[in-house]
This record gives sequence, C-alpha cells and structure tokens, in this order.
Amino acid sequence: MPFLMVDAGDLFGRRSKDERHQTEFLCQMTGDLGYDAIGLGERDLNYGLGFLQEMITKYDLPFTNANVRDAKTEKLILPEYLIVERNGVKYGLISVLDPALKIITMTADEADFTIADPVATLRDLVPRVRREADCIVLLGHLGENNTEPVIKEVKGIDISVTGHTYRSLQTERVLDDTAMFAATHEGRYIGRGNLFIEDETGRVMAIDVGVTSLDDALPSDPEMQARVDGYKKSLVEYQEAKRAAYPRTMGSEKETFLGERSCMSCHDDAWKSYVSSEHRTAFATIRNKGQSTEPECLSCHTTGYMYKNGFSESAKINLQNVQCEACHGYGTEHARDGKWVAQAKDSCVVCHDKENSPDFDYATYWEKIKH
Ligand code: HEC
Ligand code: HEC
Ligand code: HEC
Ligand code: HEC
Repeated sequence: MPFLMVDAGDLFGRRSKDERHQTEFLCQMTGDLGYDAIGLGERDLNYGLGFLQEMITKYDLPFTNANVRDAKTEKLILPEYLIVERNGVKYGLISVLDPALKIITMTADEADFTIADPVATLRDLVPRVRREADCIVLLGHLGENNTEPVIKEVKGIDISVTGHTYRSLQTERVLDDTAMFAATHEGRYIGRGNLFIEDETGRVMAIDVGVTSLDDALPSDPEMQARVDGYKKSLVEYQEAKRAAYPRTMGSEKETFLGERSCMSCHDDAWKSYVSSEHRTAFATIRNKGQSTEPECLSCHTTGYMYKNGFSESAKINLQNVQCEACHGYGTEHARDGKWVAQAKDSCVVCHDKENSPDFDYATYWEKIKH
C-alpha cells in the first residue's frame, strides 16, 4: 500500500446489544480495509475491554493508546505506540484520549480506567518514539477544542489527526510545525492528505488536503454493498431470534390492555400510590441503560410483553412501565369478586425473581406500593 491509513477513534457504536452486533460487522470490514493505526475513543470501550480485545484479536485491528490504564493493574490497556514503515519513511503513531471524556461500559462488572494527562504523556513519549521514527503522527482523541492546545504544548508532532470532532478541515492547516487533519464523525467523510515528506528528517514539507463526503452521490463498491446487504439480513435474524426467546403466547387475542389512564378515573387512591412508585418509571430505567429495545429487559419493564395484545413499540396504547394491568390483568376482564386481587398478589414473583430482585419479600415490598 502506498499510503498510510489511520483512524482517530470512536469506531464502535452506542451502548445497546443491537449496536454491539453491528459493531462486530464494522470491525470485520475495518480489519479487511487494512488500517495502519486506530486511536482509542471512549466509545470503543462501550462494550467493555473484553469485547474490544476480542475484536482486536479477531479482526487484526491496530488499536493504540498511550494514556488509558486499567485502574487496578495500572497497566496501559493497549500498545503504547506503533511504528509503520511506508516508502522508506518510518512513522511513529501515537494516540491519546481526552480525560474529560467519560468511559462508560455496558458490562456489569465495570472495570475502572484512569486517563492520564495528554500533555504530560506526550512530552514523555514523543522524544522516545522519535528515536525509532522519522515522522510522528498523533491520533488525538481530543475533540476540536483540546487538540490545538495540546499541539502547542508538545514539540515534535509532525502530523495531527483530530478524533471526536464534528468538523472536517477542508483545507490545509499548519500549526507551529504540525500539519493538522480532521474528517468528522461516524465515518461520513474520508480525509486524504498528500504529504511531501523529507526523507532525511521526516519533516512534512508540503500538503494537499481533500475531504470526501461518503454520501449517496458516491457509487458503492459492489462487493462491499453485497456484504452490507448480507449483514442487514443477519441483523434482522438476530433481532427476531432475540424476540423469539420471549414469545407472545400468554393471554387471549380477545382481550385487551386498556392502559393506566383508563383506571385513573375510578381508582383515585390506587392511582396516587402507583404514580409515585418505581413501577411508573421502569421503562425509563432500561432506556437510560440503552436497553429499551431488548426483549430480555422489556419482558419485566413493560406491561404484557409476553401477552397477546401486550406491549409493543407500535401499539396504539402506551404500555411502557409496570402498569396496573401488569399485576391485575387485561382491563377487559375487570372483575369485582376478589379474583383480581388474588391474581395480583401472585404476580410479583414473575418479575421479582431471584436474579433481578434478590431481596424480594412480599410484605415489605407491598408496604412500599400499597393501595
Ligand atoms: C411486570 C413485572 C413486575 C411485576 C408483576 C411486579 N413488579 Fe415490582 N418492579 C418491577 C420492576 C421492573 C421494578 C424496578 C422499577 C425501576 O426502578 O425501574 C420494580 C420495583 C418494585 C419496587 C421498588 C423496589 C425498591 O427498591 O424500592 C417495589 C416495592 C415493587 N416493585 C413491588 C412489587 C410488588 C409488591 C409486586 C406484586 C404485587 C410487584 N412489584 C410486581 C417489575 C414488576
Ligand atoms: C425477570 C424480570 C426482569 C428482567 C428480565 C429485567 N429486570 Fe430489571 N428489574 C426487575 C425488578 C423486579 C427490579 C426491582 C428490583 C428490586 O428493587 O428488588 C429491577 C430493577 C432494575 C434496575 C434498578 C432500578 C433502580 O431504580 O435502581 C435496573 C437498572 C434494571 N432493572 C435494568 C434491567 C435491564 C437493563 C434489563 C435487561 C438486561 C432488566 N432490568 C431485565 C425485573 C427485571
Ligand atoms: C405491582 C403490582 C400492582 C400494580 C402495578 C397495581 N396494583 Fe392494584 N393491587 C395489587 C395487589 C397485590 C392488590 C391486593 C392487595 C391486598 O389486598 O393485599 C391490589 C389491589 C387493588 C385494588 C383493590 C383494593 C381494595 O382494597 O379493594 C384496586 C382497586 C387496585 N389494586 C387498583 C389498581 C390500579 C387502578 C392500579 C394502577 C393505577 C393498580 N392497582 C396497580 C397490585 C398492583
Ligand atoms: C368505571 C369505573 C372503573 C374503571 C374504569 C375501573 N374500575 Fe376497577 N373497580 C371499579 C369498581 C366500582 C370496583 C368494585 C369496588 C371496589 O373494589 O372498589 C372495582 C374493583 C377493582 C378491583 C378489585 C377487584 C376485586 O377482585 O375485588 C381492582 C383490582 C380494580 N378494580 C382494578 C382496576 C384496573 C386495573 C382498572 C383499569 C384497567 C380499573 N379497575 C378500571 C370501577 C372501575
């Protein structure tokens, strides 16, 4: 390959299982494209360090980072820097992450990370890498505002590629002795920089920049398109398989859930107790975790997920949260003979099972939601 191909981080998707599934496909494709270095973005830890390492091994991804450590072992989680030789020039590829960016992982046992100061890290590292390389490339996952201050503080960076930015640099830009590049987020653009590099010193002598929008105007590569189409099919299958694990087999097609508001007018006291309970915010809880489309969470954090005519995203009646009918049953079966009360008492343990509610005790829990 005559060129150096780099990415400054945030390759991975948002924190949800569907996006994790897509991220694996993205990693596979990225691996096939043959990048030389990928800087670490905070999003690349969204699915935990284990998943990142699995992707690195499986798809040969050249991730690098010089300032993120495992809090327990105090060891760097990725290779500190990379050296790549191209056309007789040795490039030292370094990446740092902005400590202001929060690393939040989806894994339950959240490993803690520490992020060291980028300037201090680079002041120590750049001279060390310089001994092995002609040209220093910084993949700074520092965003638009923090890249320039770092470049100004640290001498000896020849090329800077900005990560975590929403702005592309369309024309050439040189700050002190550093050539600056940026192509904005989500892989929507690809940036090209033709550099004339002095063999002896590795110094960038002249630059020509181009940023291309990867929009519909650009023809798709047929082979890539076929792989993307194939993947989309497999994503649908994956989602259907997840839903199939929670089949909608209970209840009856003849009955319907009427929704919490239909009970409000006649049961004022019950309503008051219900609106102040955590059952009323159960859906927000899973949404905050980025899991509001996951069957394995919806089954307990909505009303009637596994019942005919129960919760679905497209339903006319909003059945988010653990509503009255999640415990009492279909509103269309409303009874006044004590049956409904008894039924509700038995409902708790369907959701308050050992795994999700280990401290459940009917008397103490009922006390908190009694009506
Ligand atoms: C359809 C599933 C479901 C049923 C049935 C259900 N719960 Fe819950 N319950 C939940 C969920 C989910 C939460 C967590 C809500 C949140 O904070 O997001 C919860 C939370 C609670 C809480 C608050 C826990 C706390 O730490 O304060 C109490 C109390 C409670 N439930 C009592 C009951 C009782 C008593 C019953 C039976 C009469 C019952 N629940 C039936 C799903 C259910
Ligand atoms: C079998 C039923 C069940 C399933 C499945 C379930 N939950 Fe829950 N969840 C509960 C119950 C019940 C509680 C309340 C526990 C308690 O306080 O005793 C709860 C509580 C929670 C809480 C704590 C709420 C708070 O206010 O602190 C979170 C967060 C949560 N669930 C997220 C999830 C996510 C994410 C999933 C899917 C991966 C999920 N739950 C799947 C029943 C379930
Ligand atoms: C978490 C489960 C749960 C939810 C949600 C819930 N209930 Fe109940 N409800 C019960 C249980 C259990 C009883 C029976 C308590 C007892 O008598 O020991 C009950 C009792 C009642 C009673 C009979 C009270 C009496 O003393 O005769 C009414 C009426 C009622 N609920 C209406 C509602 C309405 C309306 C809503 C929604 C605004 C609602 N419930 C939400 C579990 C629930
Ligand atoms: C038109 C008024 C009305 C509406 C709407 C209504 N109820 Fe009732 N409900 C009553 C009356 C009246 C009783 C019997 C007296 C009582 O126990 O309060 C009753 C009784 C109940 C009981 C006790 C049942 C038993 O087995 O003894 C529950 C539980 C209950 N309602 C829940 C609900 C729920 C849940 C909804 C919404 C889906 C609802 N009700 C909507 C009027 C209504």
